[in-house]
Amino acid sequence: MRIGYGEDTHRMAEGKKLVLGGVAIPSPRGPLAHSDGDALLHALTDALLSAIALGDIGALFPDTAPENAGRNSREFLEAALRAVRERGYRVFQVSAVIVLDRPKLGPHRGAIQENLARLLDLPLDRIGLTFKTSEGLAPEHLQARATVLLLPLGQGEA
Ligand code: C5P
Ligand code: MG
Repeated sequence: MRIGYGEDTHRMAEGKKLVLGGVAIPSPRGPLAHSDGDALLHALTDALLSAIALGDIGALFPDTAPENAGRNSREFLEAALRAVRERGYRVFQVSAVIVLDRPKLGPHRGAIQENLARLLDLPLDRIGLTFKTSEGLAPEHLQARATVLLLPLGQGEA
């Protein structure tokens, strides 16, 4: 089996859209970013690439490349998932933490879990999501951290 860990940080700013795990969250503020700033999908993508020692998201999709501007982070995740499968693995479990002071993410946990379940083809009970504030220490800070467990294709329960 393989494990992978990834994280991603963005600065929050007024008037930006907040999208986490592919789900639009109503908020007056969102991340400043070259892409859509979906920190959870970025951390997850890096965790998948790390699990197969394939560098990181910036190696595959440089943030200096104009074609990556405003890009849907789902494409990054799908590229990493293809690489995982090509090496003979599948995602078995995901555990992620998002640090954000506002807005509250708890009410959106189910929607984010369902979207990740669909993107990763996983049951809901293998997608753990923890939300934390910075206790006001970093109110402009959005950070996501993700751990993934990969199993060889064809091994273990479905
Ligand atoms: O960071 P702290 O432990 O004070 O967070 C308290 C609770 O608030 C967490 O257990 C979490 O469920 C929730 N929370 C949230 N959305 C955030 C941050 C925390 O729903 N952005
Ligand atoms: Mg990012």
